[in-house]
Amino acid sequence: MAAYDIIDHAYDVVVVGAGGGGLRATLGMSVTGLKTACITKVFPTRSHTVAAQGGIGAALGNMSEDNWIWHMFDTVKGSDWLGDQDAIEYMCREAIPAVYELEHFGVPFSRTTDGRIYQRPFGGHMRNFGEAPVQRACAAADRTGHAILHTLYQQSLKHSARFFIEYFAIDLLLDDSGVCRGVLAWNLADGSLHRFRAHMTVLATGGYGRAYFSCTSAHTCTGDGNGMVLRAGLPVQDHEFVQFHPTGIYGSGCLITEGARGEGGYLTNAAGERFMERYAPTAKDLASRDVVSRAMTVEIRDGRGVGEQKDHIYLHLEHLGADVLHQRLPGITETVRIFSGVDATRTPCPVLPTVHYNMGGIPTNYHGEVIRPVSDDPDSVCHGLMAIGECACVSVHGANRLGTNSLLDIVVFGRAAALRTSKWLKKPGTGHEPLASSVTDRAVAHFDRVRYANGSIQTAVLRLQMQRTMQNDAAVFRTAQSLQAGCEKMADIAKSTADIGLKDRSMIWNSDLVEALELENLMACAVTTIKGAVARNESRGAHAREDYPERDDTNWMKHTLAWMDDKWRVTLGYRPVHLEPLTVESIMPKVRVY
Ligand code: FUM
Repeated sequence: MAAYDIIDHAYDVVVVGAGGGGLRATLGMSVTGLKTACITKVFPTRSHTVAAQGGIGAALGNMSEDNWIWHMFDTVKGSDWLGDQDAIEYMCREAIPAVYELEHFGVPFSRTTDGRIYQRPFGGHMRNFGEAPVQRACAAADRTGHAILHTLYQQSLKHSARFFIEYFAIDLLLDDSGVCRGVLAWNLADGSLHRFRAHMTVLATGGYGRAYFSCTSAHTCTGDGNGMVLRAGLPVQDHEFVQFHPTGIYGSGCLITEGARGEGGYLTNAAGERFMERYAPTAKDLASRDVVSRAMTVEIRDGRGVGEQKDHIYLHLEHLGADVLHQRLPGITETVRIFSGVDATRTPCPVLPTVHYNMGGIPTNYHGEVIRPVSDDPDSVCHGLMAIGECACVSVHGANRLGTNSLLDIVVFGRAAALRTSKWLKKPGTGHEPLASSVTDRAVAHFDRVRYANGSIQTAVLRLQMQRTMQNDAAVFRTAQSLQAGCEKMADIAKSTADIGLKDRSMIWNSDLVEALELENLMACAVTTIKGAVARNESRGAHAREDYPERDDTNWMKHTLAWMDDKWRVTLGYRPVHLEPLTVESIMPKVRVY
């Protein structure tokens, strides 16, 4: 092992990641007087939350009657009954104060003519238990994530949180009793290694969309928290549920917000038919994302795709008129022009279902505490560790997330994590017990293994093999045959990480090394995703098995847990779904139609 001078830091709380969830937690922790550090591999306002477009869900009822119970019903139904109803109740109830809090923090929401927060319809959000679409997405034009992220960063700066920007978190520091004591990180600018001791470590590292070839996710979405958790011997949950957003721009994968259909946009096939009327007679183009993505895929497969190759679908916005597009959807009008050369005010936009979100992640309860199940307690927690946002699986999204519930998830559970920690950690500034050197050594050994890799394969070559395999074999529709083949390919690809060779071993601004570390995290996410998918013999939400087309509540209404060893071998287990909400009646499973 190479010898490093490790710089020590002592905090009450260390948050890893500065997207909306990380910033809301950082803000909440520091407001209550906890000495808080936030470590982030990119500048906070470049985090992927900045790309969230259409809105944040909350039953404010500004446009017509709404109720948080309807929001809860829609979320449970959207999750295809894999979501935990205690967490879903908490999120939908807290949504209303959470959005007003954002408004008071300074988020520049779009406004109704009488000055209230503007709300638009979004897929799967309905009034009165599924009757008709409701306007629930609180929007700042089509740049809602951008507005929230900047506001939260500004609020965080008002308090005493310390930001460590462009630091890459390498591994968690779990002691031999399994308590998390902090994290080891690498400062990309000067190459130094840093040991952050903390009573609470909060992972807010985002999703792992980049395990796929075509995704709406930023290049930074590499599942770093999920990878760290798996290397620490903890499980991830429900990784097989990967959301395809119906409207990625054909060719580039850039997102066109569902808010575009919320404002009246619609999809057509090669015959000019509004085909969603056949698949979802009530909600039509505003059905839940899994439903719309499958319908588009069927249309293309059956030869009704548009374009020369008949391999995509049209999204029509031109009938909305330039005024509405410029006022409500200025960002996507520009994105469509740049990435598909189309003037959306005149011509339909070419779109294709594109990987967008990971419903699965690090299992937590609704306080943000990471679950480490033991045989007699499926809900027992790993002390000193929390996870929030896309890297976590609370599970409020279950098998399929509703649009706008991701921005909601990050602010509600970022705040919940801070509330929980401030109750538990009564004396800010308490010192840290000494840490056995073996704990840091394990993290350094992992770093060294990647840094000194001297094989013949380039990181980018292996990453592409992984991305293509996941894209082909763990797609919108899945079969045992494709998944099994994918599992075998992924096992070989993962093993080949041992043959990676780095051109550059420098510790300073070494993007080769960053990408190799990120690939390890992506690979851990990919193998657990495909392994969970081949085992789940049913169709539920985003997991559509052609060989098992029905949902099977008797055998499969349960969360998948996946552990991984240091040879990339995956072991699966399961834990029950929480069907009991906190204060209201359970929403019992039924057939899911829109
Ligand atoms: O379509 C969108 O604007 C995306 C929102 C979301 O994923 O929640």
